[in-house]
Amino acid sequence: MKNVKLKYGYWGSKEFIAALQAQKTSTKLFKEKLLTISDCEDLILLNSGRSAIRVALKSFKQIRPHKENIIVPSYTCNAVVDAIVDEGLNPLFIDVDENLNLSFEVIEKLDLTNVLAIIIEHANGIPSDIKRISNITQSNEIFLIDDAAQIQGVSINGKPLGSLGDVGIYSFAQSKTLVGGISGSGGALLINNPILVDPCQQLTASLSVSDNGRIAALKFATTYLLEKYTYLISYYYRRIFPKTKFAKMEISLINPVNSAMLLAQFSRLKYILEGKRKAVLLYMKLKSNYPKIDFVQDIKNKDIIKLLIKLPIGLTPDQIKISMKQEGIQTRLAYDLPWATNNPNCKNALKIASHMIEVPIVIGMEESDVKYILDKFQMIISENDTPISI
Ligand SMILES: Cc1ncc(COP(=O)(O)O)c(C=O)c1O
Repeated sequence: MKNVKLKYGYWGSKEFIAALQAQKTSTKLFKEKLLTISDCEDLILLNSGRSAIRVALKSFKQIRPHKENIIVPSYTCNAVVDAIVDEGLNPLFIDVDENLNLSFEVIEKLDLTNVLAIIIEHANGIPSDIKRISNITQSNEIFLIDDAAQIQGVSINGKPLGSLGDVGIYSFAQSKTLVGGISGSGGALLINNPILVDPCQQLTASLSVSDNGRIAALKFATTYLLEKYTYLISYYYRRIFPKTKFAKMEISLINPVNSAMLLAQFSRLKYILEGKRKAVLLYMKLKSNYPKIDFVQDIKNKDIIKLLIKLPIGLTPDQIKISMKQEGIQTRLAYDLPWATNNPNCKNALKIASHMIEVPIVIGMEESDVKYILDKFQMIISENDTPISI
């Protein structure tokens, strides 16, 4: 039996050495590197993507204090919704297309008078049509957040994702393209609209540095990279301290340890994107041999970070996850969407999320690994002989 796991980050000895050698200047150096791929007016390194969203929203409120709705794709992670609510604003969920990106038809018909900002995501790395949305935001005095949390170093029409709105954001938490550690180990606010440079600098000038340094790096390594060896320790830890509650993440500046590790990783950004692309190409190549298997997203010629496969009617993602695990394959479920229940604006998001599962796309994967995954998936769904549902 093969053992094929999801990958939460590509860390090697370089990152660990960098963590030990980190200095205060590491953040400045990492910022300089990021600016080379970001095409923005200014860039502020924070502890997370959600902090970057919060700082952006604060600056928008200063300029247009009478508006309070924030349009957000109905398929998104909790962190984005929390950031909006934490700023005392109101998330307005808009349904998504087959790529899980915001669907424009609905927005074009909405009354937008009370909309302060629209958050556009590039779900799993698939670019949204920002040009189309920026026509709407510009004619309605709405700010645009180009949320490139999941993917860095990818451009559309020569413009990097993240540089296309009034502000952009990156996250460097686990499972993103560049990884500084567990959630809270890094994020960036890209300021693209010059009128926002001063407000965002003022809002962040007196922030303290995050304490998510070496301990957090160790936590990431033991939770995600060395899980095979540390599983028993964490199992007993959870039994002894079953309800350890994590403190709510406050907005702070990135810790130099995280910056140093990200700086070390930066030179491998192209290699990471290229390696993932190769794995996706293997799936595309082999797919024609599996008539029952289909991808959720349109992945042709795209740099994606997560590959999603459709499930047949009658099988729940949980069932498939368990069956795949029994075959040695780690998969991941869709985000929980607590806001989607009974919300007509979240119908598509809910339908896709309940009929999909993420399969590994890992650098260095071989054709035999992908074949193994697809063989096992086909075998599991064949036991339930109903057609693909979405
Ligand atoms: C699209 C998107 N935006 C924002 C975030 C928040 O990033 P962070 O976890 O660094 O706060 C995430 C995290 O998964 C995300 O996927």
